[in-house]
Amino acid sequence: MSSTRNTVVALALACLFSGCSASNDAESGVDDVIVIKFPHVVAPGTTPKGQAAARFEELVEARFPGRVDVEVYPSAQLMNDDDSLEALAFGEIQMIAVSLSKFDRLTQSFQVFDLPFLFSDIAAVERFQKSPEGRSLLTALDGSGFHGLAFWHNGMKHFGADRPLHLPEDAQGLRFRIMESDVLQAQIEAIGSSPQKMGFEEVYQALQTGAIDAQENTWSNIYSSKFHEVQPYFMVSNHGYVGYFVAVNAQFWSSLPEDVRLGLEEIMAEVTEWGNARSITINEEGRAKMLESGRTEIIELTDEELVVWQDSVQTVWDQFSDEIGSEIIEAAQREAVRR
Ligand code: LMR
Repeated sequence: MSSTRNTVVALALACLFSGCSASNDAESGVDDVIVIKFPHVVAPGTTPKGQAAARFEELVEARFPGRVDVEVYPSAQLMNDDDSLEALAFGEIQMIAVSLSKFDRLTQSFQVFDLPFLFSDIAAVERFQKSPEGRSLLTALDGSGFHGLAFWHNGMKHFGADRPLHLPEDAQGLRFRIMESDVLQAQIEAIGSSPQKMGFEEVYQALQTGAIDAQENTWSNIYSSKFHEVQPYFMVSNHGYVGYFVAVNAQFWSSLPEDVRLGLEEIMAEVTEWGNARSITINEEGRAKMLESGRTEIIELTDEELVVWQDSVQTVWDQFSDEIGSEIIEAAQREAVRR
């Protein structure tokens, strides 16, 4: 476990027993501008999260002019995701939208979103997130200094590599960048590759220098971060989901004047509907632009090939089902198959 991860876990425990201090002084006086620092790691204009964060800023500042100032820092300009978990718990920043895959030291229930081939599309994820079991995950980090507001979609993940990957055997021995997730680590080990946990902001260079051979991500992340310029093959695998836990520092949130808190909740609900509805189009646009660039090949896998991929990662489900909990997995499976 990295030292940052150790710190986040320790901090979450400290928050649990003594509460975390929020640096934003929302309670100190009506004239103070309430600042919401909101860093994230992806591009501002060409990703679902980038657009949703910008829209949140715009709507909040229109509704609370001179009273609430949302400062969005895209593209890891302010900090990376690992550091943002720690900074949020400390109250150094007020809001995050970090990939669900990156919380596994804080809650194991989010690991359901990483189970390979559980959700076939975003509609299935959406149904699960809106089910009672899915909604209960929004409070999974209550008591750890985080207050969950929403789930934002990015999209379905696909494999990219320095060679065509029709079957898992083609990926034998490849160094595969993954997010900080033990489920993803097990998934990559199950296909015979070597998982490398790495921050998003390091991936382009790692591909360019050959430090890694392969990675998995959504079309919008791949296109907006130009991975297609340094990675020749992408496989349409739809094998997993990238989505975000949008959370605020709990003490900051409870210190807000009620009208502001309620207003922010309303805006967050509106932005979530808006951004999630746009996420599929943004990813399709990313895929189309990758093709237009002529710099990479996008390979459609056959149904037979996809079945081999699915079978190869089935053991991951057995490994993590106790940790995640059967109730959560069964609820997700119910929504995944319902049409
Ligand atoms: C990744 O690290 O690949 C993603 O979590 C980046 C993001 O925020 O979509």
